[in-house]
Amino acid sequence: SYDFQLKPHPKIPKSDGPLLVCVLDGYGENKIKDDYNAVHVADTPCTDALRAVPGRFCTLQAHGKAVGLPSNDDMGNSEVGHNALGAGQLIDQGASLVDGALRTGSLFSGEGWAYIAPAFAGNTLHFIGLLSDGGVHSRTDQLYGCLRGAAERGAKKIRVHFLTDGRDVPDGSSLKFVEELEGVLKELAATGCDAKIASGGGRMCVTMDRYEADWNIVKKGWDAHVLGQAPHYFKDALSALKELRKEGSEKPVSDQWLDPFVIVGEDDKPVATIEDDDAVVIFNFRADRVIELSKALEYSEFTAFDRVRFPKTRFVGMMQYDGDLKLPTNYLVPPPAISGTSGEFLAKNGLRTFVCSETQKFGHVTFFWNGNRSGYFDEELETYVEIPSDTVPFNELPDMKAREICEAGKEALRSGRYDQVRINFANPDMVGHTGDLEATVRCCTLVDKCVKELLEVVDEMNGRFLVTSDHGNADDMAQREKKTLKPIVQEGKVVSLTSHTLAPVPLAIGGKGLPADVKLRDDLPSAGLGNVAATIFNLMGFEVSWAEPKTGNHCVLR
Ligand code: 3PG
Ligand code: CO
Repeated sequence: SYDFQLKPHPKIPKSDGPLLVCVLDGYGENKIKDDYNAVHVADTPCTDALRAVPGRFCTLQAHGKAVGLPSNDDMGNSEVGHNALGAGQLIDQGASLVDGALRTGSLFSGEGWAYIAPAFAGNTLHFIGLLSDGGVHSRTDQLYGCLRGAAERGAKKIRVHFLTDGRDVPDGSSLKFVEELEGVLKELAATGCDAKIASGGGRMCVTMDRYEADWNIVKKGWDAHVLGQAPHYFKDALSALKELRKEGSEKPVSDQWLDPFVIVGEDDKPVATIEDDDAVVIFNFRADRVIELSKALEYSEFTAFDRVRFPKTRFVGMMQYDGDLKLPTNYLVPPPAISGTSGEFLAKNGLRTFVCSETQKFGHVTFFWNGNRSGYFDEELETYVEIPSDTVPFNELPDMKAREICEAGKEALRSGRYDQVRINFANPDMVGHTGDLEATVRCCTLVDKCVKELLEVVDEMNGRFLVTSDHGNADDMAQREKKTLKPIVQEGKVVSLTSHTLAPVPLAIGGKGLPADVKLRDDLPSAGLGNVAATIFNLMGFEVSWAEPKTGNHCVLR
């Protein structure tokens, strides 16, 4: 429990104007500064100038253990990044918690497992989730652990419905993961368990929508996984991938964007549909892209799309995905307990907040920021504005909604109605994920312009600002040789990198309302995203005693 009463900072006075907190999603500070670093290539006079201010710029760790991930080989991502930014604490994240639950076996002895077990003898056990070792939403080794654990504990019929990745891992790696999965399923079959792949599709157009950007994506998944209906039917999953990727054709399709498909048996019937009394496990630990499917599987009242049939299943999530909605009711591993987030402190101290992003990142600066809660702390004090995202691959419209977000941010700063104005620019991340270098350079330039405009308004209002990012992405657009770090070239072309990077992120502070002698501490070389919340309160003129000591308290002092 916390003492929520914030105390005035002994040295930093309260500001007259608002504090702008601006997250440039996927905008890393990469030490490789070549033609494939879009942040470096882009024309960014504003962020360049911020970097040059003595004592007011530093970089922060945004990956691995610094954000609660199992290992320092784990790249950062928006969930753990925004959790750390908003909570000001280091939290053992979903990936680590599932690892632990598999290691100790507690995953198989908890209430969630007990809930699905009655289906093992006479019904089918389904697994649905993202098939890769990206470690952002899920991991294959965790899926395999669950599959083996289920077979050992008597599951007689298992069906796997998977989404291909190519976004947190290289495009084309879907083939390798499916071969590996087939191997595990064969192993189970040898012990008498009927285990097969049943359906699938690319993560960006099947099942894994987020923040209700496009329910049709979830409907396509529902049709394939639950009803056994899709535009394509195949006898096996590898043939499905090879066919749907259209390699060597004029218009190859990447793993992220594969059409939905259903696997059929010799009789041409789907090898599985989801039926009453079956058990269903969503094996993603990360919430944002499985909340919609969870609602479809759990809620009897449901209007987002026509489910045609609503099977009464024993459904569990790998975790509970939404702490406010308590969704899903049943889950295999208790989620990270995140309490005492900065949002709660703001609200309990009567501070007014304006938050804005576009759909694709809206939940990042609200839901993830607030510790995986979908509600408000105090509706009177908080205004959350979502600008609807386009529903196209974002390299086609790389400006996304940056201008609109910028305008909303400026208006909120000028209104005088808010103590904190928090916004997120989605572009460097969302366009970076497409692997399109040119489009990513373009959007970094635009985002830099938007930051400049916002900082001008901060000055106009005699306010203060903090500009940062949640993880790297746009700062490296090329897959590289491990030793030389030279871009990998195949068939005369540099192979693009669609995933996040391990780069640290920028932290810049300033604004006309910030006394000249307020500087960032220089004695915290391993400071990470968990240090930002304390810094934000310092910038608002408050002392921080609640952030966990292990995050290294306060970045700011005189
Ligand atoms: C996604 O869901 O788009 C990627 O897997 C991770 O991107 P994010 O962590 O930046 O949202
Ligand atoms: Co991303």
